[in-house]
Amino acid sequence: MCGPGYLLGAIAQQRPDLKLRGVDISEDFIEHAKTQCLGTFEVHDARTWNTKEQFDVVLCTAGIHHLPYGQQSAFIERLPRLLKPTGFCIVADPLLPDYSNELERKQSAAKLGYEYLQATLATDPPAEIVTAALDILYDDVQGDEWKTSLEKLLPSYKPHFNK
Ligand SMILES: C[S@@+](CC[C@H](N)C(=O)[O-])C[C@H]1O[C@@H](n2cnc3c(N)ncnc32)[C@H](O)[C@@H]1O
Repeated sequence: MCGPGYLLGAIAQQRPDLKLRGVDISEDFIEHAKTQCLGTFEVHDARTWNTKEQFDVVLCTAGIHHLPYGQQSAFIERLPRLLKPTGFCIVADPLLPDYSNELERKQSAAKLGYEYLQATLATDPPAEIVTAALDILYDDVQGDEWKTSLEKLLPSYKPHFNK
């Protein structure tokens, strides 16, 4: 879920010795990622991507909340298969305050979205960036994206990772 490849590009600048591979479901993002750094970039659905290669490090940033709640656990279960025995995985995803029902989930999403919007406005950004921050709030509250809480996500990791 490498997106347009900015993170891999930044890593390549610091560590040009690393061999990088990026996978994303979006053809446009993969084409853009190819302009960011040398590496292998491929269009795949991360939920079904099969590769024999095993990696020292697997990064998954801001990706899991793009998967419906019912698919997140099965995706997390697949991650260790991509790792060498000494490898490790870095997963970063925006998290909501924990909630116990749909109304609370919406309220948690509104809280995170409001904080994100405030932080965005503080940078005095152009209108399209404000619109993007509002879109995120809308998508999260309406359930078009699937951010969740650490408390709900952690049990999906525990059986599959040793740390
Ligand atoms: C918010 S972006 C994060 C991009 C990048 N990882 C970053 O941190 O900047 C989420 C990315 O997940 C990708 N994505 C969503 N569902 C996917 C799937 N099933 N398989 C692969 N990529 C997916 C989207 O195309 C998008 O590029």
